[in-house]
Amino acid sequence: MCGIVGYIGKKDSKRILLDGLKELEYRGYDSAGIAVLQGDNFSSFKATGKLINLEEKTKDFVTDKFSIGIGHTRWATHGKPTELNAHPHAGENSYVVHNGIIENYAELKKELLEDGVHFLSQTDTEVIVHQFEKNLKTSISAFEAFKITIEQLHGAYAILLVTKGEKETIFFAKNGSPMLMGIDSDNEKYFASSDTPLIGHCSDINYFEDGDYGYVSPDALVIFSQKNLQKEPVFTKLSTNKLSAQKDGYRFFMEKEIYEQHDVITDTLLGRLSEERVIFEEIESSLFDGINEIKLCACGTSYHSALTATYLFERYSKVKTSIEVASEFRYREPIMNKDTLFVVISQSGETADTLETLKMAKKAGLKTLVICNVDNSSMVRLADACILTRAGVEKGVASTKAFATQVTVFWMMSLYLAELKSSMAKEEIQKQIALIREIPASVRVSDAMHEHIKRLSKRYLHGHGFFFIGRDVFYPLALEGALKLKEISYLHAEGYPSGEMKHGPIALADPELFTIALLPEHKLYEKAKSNVEELSARDATICAISPLEFDKADDLIPINRCKDYMLEFFEMMVVVQILSLEISIRLGNDVDMPRNLAKSVTVE
Ligand code: G6P
Repeated sequence: MCGIVGYIGKKDSKRILLDGLKELEYRGYDSAGIAVLQGDNFSSFKATGKLINLEEKTKDFVTDKFSIGIGHTRWATHGKPTELNAHPHAGENSYVVHNGIIENYAELKKELLEDGVHFLSQTDTEVIVHQFEKNLKTSISAFEAFKITIEQLHGAYAILLVTKGEKETIFFAKNGSPMLMGIDSDNEKYFASSDTPLIGHCSDINYFEDGDYGYVSPDALVIFSQKNLQKEPVFTKLSTNKLSAQKDGYRFFMEKEIYEQHDVITDTLLGRLSEERVIFEEIESSLFDGINEIKLCACGTSYHSALTATYLFERYSKVKTSIEVASEFRYREPIMNKDTLFVVISQSGETADTLETLKMAKKAGLKTLVICNVDNSSMVRLADACILTRAGVEKGVASTKAFATQVTVFWMMSLYLAELKSSMAKEEIQKQIALIREIPASVRVSDAMHEHIKRLSKRYLHGHGFFFIGRDVFYPLALEGALKLKEISYLHAEGYPSGEMKHGPIALADPELFTIALLPEHKLYEKAKSNVEELSARDATICAISPLEFDKADDLIPINRCKDYMLEFFEMMVVVQILSLEISIRLGNDVDMPRNLAKSVTVE
């Protein structure tokens, strides 16, 4: 978690650091801070809460000459989100910012305390700067002290460190947390946790590998690998399209991203469909040689899209498929057979638990595939093969378009596999491909539909809880609908299989229990309907989402009649997203930055 930025050069470093942090605020916004060394003087500012508070604190601070600066936006792990715990953390003459977790910080801290070092914060990060200053006393150079410090740290980190003795140098190290560096046309250097802060400044960027460490100064760029061998940076071109990362007149990024689903799904399909087959140029079909089983692993929303895939892979591809929550898989000593393809799903490609399961699968010798939205992310670089979802930058913490593109990829992949495994007739695959081409139209938001949901949302601001219920693939969608609602409205919501309600939850039924019932025409309609009738008979308040009239519902949000249940899935997906959005807006919440959450969870 957390975002870090760094800059070395003659430009306005305060502005560069603050603008960079603004782009990374989605990674955490419990507090933020910067430290800048100009001449002989360090200036450091920290503020709790969103970046605007730091902007206010730094408004009289001017950076108009050569300087080196580092900045951080925090999602608290060790220690409360207070100003003392905010980064950068200071030693006597140095400052550090860090993303990740130092697992052996307690041991290091104990020794440092015994040496008489005074700690200000409860964070794991603060040990880095003190350990560095301790090593500095016995090292021939600051870089040697930094190198020794890095060797003493266990855990995940992206670190930037600056120290008074080296007024023109930023030291860096990366292991398990994302970090990259860019160079602008004046040969000035920038660091960040992701590429967006660098758009507009740099055209070429270098992604650091795990284990990389080194330093930059105006004339030098020195990188060492984990094996202590010096290496050259590998520069790739950075996109210049920052506009796509702006709000475009929508109230929230989440709203914009819901509306964008039509376009991004079109991109996801681009070049991947012919009349009769699905084409994934990025993977070799030999990836599936000898594969009898697929294991899917993910967290959060990505887990829900993967759960949808379990239905499609078994139904269409006839491949045995199972799924696990990554944080559970990690520690339950799973049996991993080599005839299993291990597939991780992640918007960011950085989620710590999911990344770790990928490493486990690789270690066990399994073939691996990642379905990911961020090229060059840790998972993409690690997996044997990758299919990118092409959703573009997703800024809303509550994931929408990433989910939509993941399910699109899974639907395509089920047909790709169906062809490989000859599990479906050619004509049937063709029919399915024609349906896939209709997804972009199914996710278009009409003004009338949005307005209807907006009006209706005022009736769903209280109560003692929501149950989103569905059958088949509408069960994962129910889980996702409930997750969206709780993430941004803070109302209690659960996703449940419709048929399970009578095994317990129905005891909760009363007018204050809101049931959001997913009732598709083309998948188990009658069965799902009877489950809802059982709830209606017990006076639960029912909001049905369906293409068909339903007289037992208190409210109905109609969707278009579709040819297939998967298109109904996409229609309903948009409805549950907008319903959560409108309820959250009415409750006055910050839709894009819900409390306690972060976009990318790079800690366990
Ligand atoms: C966080 C985000 C969720 C996301 C989950 C998994 O919890 O808030 O929106 O679904 O991480 O993230 P990933 O990037 O691996 O899909």
